[in-house]
Amino acid sequence: MEQVVWPMLLFFTCMMIISYAQDFLQNPDFLQNPDFEIPPFNITANSTTSQFILLTEANSIPGWSFNGTVSYVTSGANLSFPGSSGGHALQLGENGAIKQTFSRANTTNTANANETYEYVVSFNLIPQSEDCANNRTTVNVTLRENLFRNRSMAFSLRRNLTRNLWESHAFFLAKLGVNDSVDIQISSVKATNTKDGNNVTCWPVVDAFNVKTNPSWRRYMDNALANGNFEVGPGFMKNSSEGILLDKEQDRFGSALQDWDIYGIVKYIDSNNYKVPQGKAAIELLSGKSGVHKNLYIEPKYTYTLNFTMGDANNSCVGNFTVYVQVGNNTHNFTMTSNGTGSAFERFLTFKSQFRLLTTIPIGLYSFNETRTGTGVLCGPVIDNVIIRRDSDERNSDGRKIGSHGILILACLLIWACL
Ligand SMILES: *[C@@H]1O[C@H](CO)[C@@H](O)[C@H](O)[C@H]1NC(C)=O
Ligand SMILES: *[C@@H]1O[C@H](CO)[C@@H](O)[C@H](O)[C@H]1NC(C)=O
Ligand SMILES: *[C@@H]1O[C@H](CO)[C@@H](O)[C@H](O)[C@H]1NC(C)=O
Ligand SMILES: *[C@@H]1O[C@H](CO)[C@@H](O)[C@H](O)[C@H]1NC(C)=O
Ligand SMILES: *[C@@H]1O[C@H](CO)[C@@H](O)[C@H](O)[C@H]1NC(C)=O
Ligand SMILES: *[C@@H]1O[C@H](CO)[C@@H](O)[C@H](O)[C@H]1NC(C)=O
Ligand SMILES: *[C@@H]1O[C@H](CO)[C@@H](O)[C@H](O)[C@H]1NC(C)=O
Ligand SMILES: *[C@@H]1O[C@H](CO)[C@@H](O)[C@H](O)[C@H]1NC(C)=O
Ligand SMILES: *[C@@H]1O[C@H](CO)[C@@H](O)[C@H](O)[C@H]1NC(C)=O
Ligand SMILES: *[C@@H]1O[C@H](CO)[C@@H](O)[C@H](O)[C@H]1NC(C)=O
Ligand SMILES: *[C@@H]1O[C@H](CO)[C@@H](O)[C@H](O)[C@H]1NC(C)=O
Ligand SMILES: *[C@@H]1O[C@H](CO)[C@@H](O)[C@H](O)[C@H]1NC(C)=O
Repeated sequence: MEQVVWPMLLFFTCMMIISYAQDFLQNPDFLQNPDFEIPPFNITANSTTSQFILLTEANSIPGWSFNGTVSYVTSGANLSFPGSSGGHALQLGENGAIKQTFSRANTTNTANANETYEYVVSFNLIPQSEDCANNRTTVNVTLRENLFRNRSMAFSLRRNLTRNLWESHAFFLAKLGVNDSVDIQISSVKATNTKDGNNVTCWPVVDAFNVKTNPSWRRYMDNALANGNFEVGPGFMKNSSEGILLDKEQDRFGSALQDWDIYGIVKYIDSNNYKVPQGKAAIELLSGKSGVHKNLYIEPKYTYTLNFTMGDANNSCVGNFTVYVQVGNNTHNFTMTSNGTGSAFERFLTFKSQFRLLTTIPIGLYSFNETRTGTGVLCGPVIDNVIIRRDSDERNSDGRKIGSHGILILACLLIWACL
C-alpha cells in the first residue's frame, strides 16, 4: 500500500507545481526591443519617410548589435508584414547579422527564482517580395550558450504553408539556470531567383522575437508520455491568426515542442484561431511529410493503451486523413473524412511489451497525404491529447513483483521530475 501512496503524494505535489507553472507561461518581453518598435537611435525626420533605413554605427538599433548590411524597415506598400504593435522590422542584407544576449537574470516572472527553465523563441520570417517567397528567404540562427555549446539552424520560408507570404517559426533557445545566458545571432543567407532572365537577390526580413518560458520538469504518473497534450511549446504571436511552423531541430539540445521530435514540418495551432480538441494548443500535421515522435520507456509484460484525438482545425481542410501511429516496429493507421469544420474523434490502440526488461520503443504520429484548404494552404489532421497508460489489471502471475519495481521506477522518475 505504501508503495502506492508515496508516488501518489509526489504526483499531486507535481500537479500543484504544474498548475502553478501554467500561470506564468505568457511573458512580458524578455529581449530588449524584440519587435524593433524602438527606432534607431539617430533617426531623422527625413529618414522617417523612407521605408528602408540603413543602420550605421551612429544610427544603430536599440537592444541589438549588428554587422554588415542591415536596414530598418517600415511596413508599407512594397513590403507589408504584421507588426506586433507598429509594423517595423529588420532586413538582413549582404553579410547582415544581428545579435543580442538573453540573460536569465533579466527575466522577472518565474515562479521560482532558483528553478531551471526552458526558453523557446518564436519569430516572424518575411520575404522582401513575392518572388522571394518560395524557399528563397532564409536566416541562420546561431546560439552560443557558452564557449563549448554552439549550434546553428537555418529557417526557410516556403509558399503555401500559411495564408500569408510571411511565416512564424520557432526554435528551442536554451535551458537556463539562475546565472546563465545565451547569445542569439541571426544572419542572412543570400538567395537569388531568376525571373524572366533577371536575377532577383532575396534578403530576409525578421520581426517579433517572442521568448516563452516553459517549466523543465515532466510528468509521468497520469500519462507515460510527457507533453502528450502539446500544451508546452512556443508562444503564439499576438497579431497573427496563423499557427507557428515547427521544423526539425538539428540536434538533441531540446525541442520547441517540449519532449517531442519533429519530422518534416508541423504547425503548432492555438485555440483562439483554430479548433483545438483540448486545452490551448494542438498540432496540425501538414501535407506530404509531417509528424512527431519520441522514445518511450515501457515496462516488461504490461499491456499499454495509447489514446489520442484526431480531427481537423476548422480551416476548411476537406479530405480523407490518414494518421499513421508508430509503436515500436508496428504501424497502425487511423482514417477519418474531414469536411473542414472542426471535427474531433477519439482513437486508441493497445500494445504489449514483449521485452524482459525496461525498454525504450519509438512512438510517433505521422501524416503523408496531401490536403489543402479552400485557399490552397497545405493542411492536414489535428492531433491532440496523446495518452499512454499502463493497464494495471492485466498483470500476470509474476506481475506483482514487476509491478512494484515499476512503481519504484516511477517514484524515482517523479522525485527526479519534482526536484
Ligand atoms: C531632408 O530632406 C530635404 C528635402 O527632401 C533635403 O533638402 C535635405 O537635404 C534632407 N536632409 C538630410 C539631412 O538628409
Ligand atoms: C548620433 O549621431 C551623432 C552624429 O553623427 C553621433 O555623434 C552620436 O554618437 C550618435 N548617437 C548614437 C546613439 O549613435
Ligand atoms: C560582428 O563581427 C564581430 C567580429 O567578427 C563579432 O565579434 C561580432 O560578434 C559580430 N556581431 C554580430 C551581430 O554578428
Ligand atoms: C539584461 O542584463 C544585462 C546584464 O546582465 C543588462 O546589461 C541589460 O541592461 C539587461 N536588460 C534588460 C532589458 O533588463
Ligand atoms: C534561492 O537560493 C538562494 C540561495 O541558495 C536562497 O537564499 C533563496 O531563498 C532561494 N530563493 C527561492 C525563491 O527559493
Ligand atoms: C531550399 O533551398 C536550399 C538551398 O538553397 C535547398 O538545400 C533545399 O533543398 C530547398 N528546399 C526545398 C524544399 O526546396
Ligand atoms: C549558419 O552559421 C553557421 C555558423 O556560423 C555555419 O557553420 C553554417 O554554415 C551556416 N548555415 C547556413 C545555411 O548559412
Ligand atoms: C543570373 O545568375 C546566373 C548564375 O549566377 C548568371 O549566369 C546570369 O548571367 C545572371 N543573369 C543576369 C541577368 O545577371
Ligand atoms: C482510451 O480509449 C478507450 C476506448 O475508447 C477507453 O475505454 C479508455 O477509457 C480511454 N483511455 C483514456 C485514458 O482516455
Ligand atoms: C474519401 O474517401 C471516400 C471513400 O473512400 C471517397 O468516396 C471520397 O471521394 C474521398 N474524399 C476525398 C475528398 O478524397
Ligand atoms: C524491432 O525489430 C528489430 C529487428 O527485428 C528488433 O531487434 C527490435 O527489438 C524491434 N524493436 C521493437 C521496439 O520491437
Ligand atoms: C500557393 O499560394 C498561391 C498564392 O495564394 C496560389 O496562387 C497558388 O496557387 C498556391 N499553390 C497551390 C499549389 O495551391
